Amino acid sequence: MTQFQNGSRARAVHRLIYASRQRFAANEPAAQALEAIAASAARHNAAAGVTGLLLAHGGWLLQVLEGPANAVMTTYRRILDDPRHDEPRVIISGPVREREFEEAGMDARRMNPAGDCILGALDQRTAFTPRELSDVSALALLKAVRGCDAPALVALAG
Ligand SMILES: Cc1cc2nc3c(=O)[nH]c(=O)nc-3n(C[C@H](O)[C@H](O)[C@H](O)COP(=O)(O)O)c2cc1C
Repeated sequence: MTQFQNGSRARAVHRLIYASRQRFAANEPAAQALEAIAASAARHNAAAGVTGLLLAHGGWLLQVLEGPANAVMTTYRRILDDPRHDEPRVIISGPVREREFEEAGMDARRMNPAGDCILGALDQRTAFTPRELSDVSALALLKAVRGCDAPALVALAG
């Protein structure tokens, strides 16, 4: 598994977190749409040095992208053009000291009902509205998801 933390790969890291509304085709199960996205991300992100995590829940998406600033912004612009989501809102975009999400590609996850315990901690249990999360809460949620194994979460693809 490739990592970008150490050695010659170490450089300034840009982190962008955004939330958007899921617009998957009506006849396509969410898991299948997410698998397709993760496959695209696997093709592009490793080469660009971009890492992150994509969380889908309650019709919303929350994604963190980390890597060199140019690569993150290029990736985000491509994602913005994608009709599989809309109403994007950037929660935070700026330089950080180090990566929190180090695995190459893009982890794509869905939360099952057991994951509500995580949302409860952020007051998001009854209505998951990631657009309204602060930068601190959005990062906390994504880190909790990253660190959480089944059964709370369904991991799709790396
Ligand atoms: C919510 C969402 C997240 C995405 N995340 C990524 C990503 O991290 N990296 C990436 O290359 N493409 C991502 N995509 C897919 C791109 O929008 C685009 O479809 C893809 O990069 C096109 O490349 P391809 O033709 O090789 O599949 C995402 C799409 C959506 C809807």
